[in-house]
Amino acid sequence: MITMSAPGKLMLFGEHAVVFGEPCIVTAVDQRLSVTAEKNSRISINAPQVKETKFVDRAVHAFFSKYSKNSRVRLTISSQFSHQVGFGSSSAVTVATLRALSLFFNVPMSDREIFDVAYHVTLDIQGVGSGFDIAAATYGGSLYFKKGGSTIDPLSLSGIPLVVGYTGVKADTPNLVREVAEKQKKYPEKVNKIFIAIGKLVEEARTRMQAGEWERVGKLMDFNQEYLRDLGVSSEKLEALIGAAKKAGAWGAKLSGAGGGDCMIALAPSDKREAIEKGIAKAGGEVIAVSPNAGGVRVEP
Ligand code: PMV
Repeated sequence: MITMSAPGKLMLFGEHAVVFGEPCIVTAVDQRLSVTAEKNSRISINAPQVKETKFVDRAVHAFFSKYSKNSRVRLTISSQFSHQVGFGSSSAVTVATLRALSLFFNVPMSDREIFDVAYHVTLDIQGVGSGFDIAAATYGGSLYFKKGGSTIDPLSLSGIPLVVGYTGVKADTPNLVREVAEKQKKYPEKVNKIFIAIGKLVEEARTRMQAGEWERVGKLMDFNQEYLRDLGVSSEKLEALIGAAKKAGAWGAKLSGAGGGDCMIALAPSDKREAIEKGIAKAGGEVIAVSPNAGGVRVEP
């Protein structure tokens, strides 16, 4: 029997623009999803906490068609986070399943192979996506990332003073990605300008984060949020939580991920943290306690 766990993730900078070739910055969070593989007479998948098992099914299929013919295994999935919050349960379950199978059947797979197979599994199902969430689940830490994993650079950070607020609304990522793509087709000049500006801001954020210049990083979050508003992916609820965090003294705040719902993030000076959390809760958000920069997919004892 073997258990592998993969972390959830939060997008720090660059969502949407990353789908069009710009870089983004993602961090893995310390809420994890686990997949246990054990002997069985046939293949069986037991995932009471997972809404649907299509990512597991596809990952299993991809693994056995490429690496092994012996498909006798029972997979059991459990998660510390709900698939509702936008921490990337689909990517975490795909990566953890592939890693569990590779270890259980003793088929060596590099991290890069895990990333590539998992990315194709999620693309087959969702049709769109940059793969940033797969990279976070595979490698962990905080990453400077480009679409399809053409660049995956770990950032060297000692910590990120992050506060996370959940809107209570589930984001429909594939639809939001398609809506932005439609806008880009309709108004290419305007939308491409926004993407380029976001890309520039990601480059600066990469440097400033590694230098620990959090006040400036917060400002960059505010700028990023303005561009996301222009793209039309923010929501009233997100704006309420972001506004509350800012009012309570956050260095900066933005939505995280596709928009429309899921989570917002704020950068908090340590003496303002409590006030910011209270502000988010008062505005109707749920503060989720997570630590960023968590480890990638790994064996659980
Ligand atoms: O909604 P999330 O947390 O999966 O984030 C989506 C981020 C996008 O850039 C909009 C899409 C992507 O795959 O990069």
